[in-house]
Amino acid sequence: MTSKPAPQVSVRRLLFRWLLLPLASLLALNVAVGYQIALYPAKAAYDWALMDTALSLSRLMAASGIGSGIPLSRSADILLRTDQYDRIYYSVHDAKGALLAGDYHLTPPQLESMTAGELLYDSVLDNENIRVAALRFMLHGKDAVVQVAETTVKRSRLTNQILTGLIASEMLLVVAVIILVWFGIGKGLAPLERLRAAIEARSHRDLRPVPEDHAPVEVQPVVHALNNLLGQLEGALQSQQQFIANAAHQLRTPLAGLRTQVEYGLQQRDPEEWHRILQALKPATERTAHLANQLLTLARAEVGAHQMSSRQPLDLRAVVESVAGDWLPQTIARDIDLGLELNPAPVLGDALLIGELLANLIDNAIRYTASGGRITVHTRMENDCAVLEVEDEGAGIPEAEREKVFQRFHRVDGSLGEGCGLGLAIVQEIAHLHGGHAEIRTPASGAGTLVMVRFPSAQENHG
Ligand SMILES: Nc1ncnc2c1ncn2[C@@H]1O[C@H](COP(=O)(O)OP(=O)(O)OP(=O)(O)O)[C@@H](O)[C@H]1O
Ligand SMILES: [Mg+2]
Repeated sequence: MTSKPAPQVSVRRLLFRWLLLPLASLLALNVAVGYQIALYPAKAAYDWALMDTALSLSRLMAASGIGSGIPLSRSADILLRTDQYDRIYYSVHDAKGALLAGDYHLTPPQLESMTAGELLYDSVLDNENIRVAALRFMLHGKDAVVQVAETTVKRSRLTNQILTGLIASEMLLVVAVIILVWFGIGKGLAPLERLRAAIEARSHRDLRPVPEDHAPVEVQPVVHALNNLLGQLEGALQSQQQFIANAAHQLRTPLAGLRTQVEYGLQQRDPEEWHRILQALKPATERTAHLANQLLTLARAEVGAHQMSSRQPLDLRAVVESVAGDWLPQTIARDIDLGLELNPAPVLGDALLIGELLANLIDNAIRYTASGGRITVHTRMENDCAVLEVEDEGAGIPEAEREKVFQRFHRVDGSLGEGCGLGLAIVQEIAHLHGGHAEIRTPASGAGTLVMVRFPSAQENHG
């Protein structure tokens, strides 16, 4: 099953998206608001000018004594209608709506609607938009309305100029912001780049911590976690080197002994002497083979820590049942009664490694129990833990030694047999590998040894 590759996250792109999108929206809002703010006073200025013209016209009419039906003088008309961009219209109506002067097609507003005396409004004349200023005034003692209107060419020009100016300045701002954000992000990410270069420049043997204080505060937790990992790796590497040195040292002595005996044998001519030497070689080779096996099992358990994904659901009961038979010859030879009290105890684990764990416990029990004794293996569930116990009636392990016997190569002084002191270290290593723990107790009878190994239940492991 191939899993989809996780989408790549670019900090630069993320920052860019989170900074630029809101910034662009803000700039657009700025254009809209700025446009309104700039447009209002500009349009108002045009309106005031238009109203001023209406006022001048009303004064001119009142002062010149122009009455109904008499047009303005030609020069006044030219003056009124002169504008660089727009066409100007004007009209004077009496209270009944009769045209007194000006353009007939400029319809007057209702006098009643002009309570304030003046009115500014938009209208359409000859299919053209116009802006109209209307002013109510007294002409020879009677109500009249003067209107001045202009097309909206200069107003549209003004609107366009304001908009173009605003958009151009905002565009400049956008470009400036893009450039600043781009370089700013680059500058902000530079310490990360330096960190990457520093890590990349290291050799795979260099497990010293990366200097945390050089990293930016935001990245320090990552560097800290990395340093923790490097520390663990260093520890693992050291313990591996220690293990290899120990193993070499432990193997060298018995192998040298074997070689000496073989060399001695080769110098002999007497077949009886050969036989005697070979007899002595047998247990020595067995011990050496046992040592090599124990070392390899320990190494395998250590390496297994990185491969625990290979755990399978299995039952401790089944593991015991499958290997118990292997021990019968030895228990019979020593007249030891091997009893099994097995209940279901499901775990997730490596059957081979748990088999090795069990083999070491039974081996100890047989080895350190006097002939005629009894060994019992229990499996059961207890408080959500799968429990494996091996109990014997041997000499027992003194309280003070119960922690130490789990150390590598540690043997209790005066122990029987020729063990190499690795069995219980292997047991603990395999127990820990499965998230469990081994400890030594005194059996209920008060004598002998009980080694109890607890494993997390299979259900917990699943979670
Ligand atoms: N069931 C037991 N009864 C009494 N003493 C024990 C028992 N199991 C272990 N010990 C003591 O603990 C020591 C450490 O045991 P461990 O199994 O680690 O090593 P070993 O048996 O000496 O060697 P190995 O198992 O590697 O061949 C033993 O030397 C022995 O003194
Ligand atoms: Mg042992």
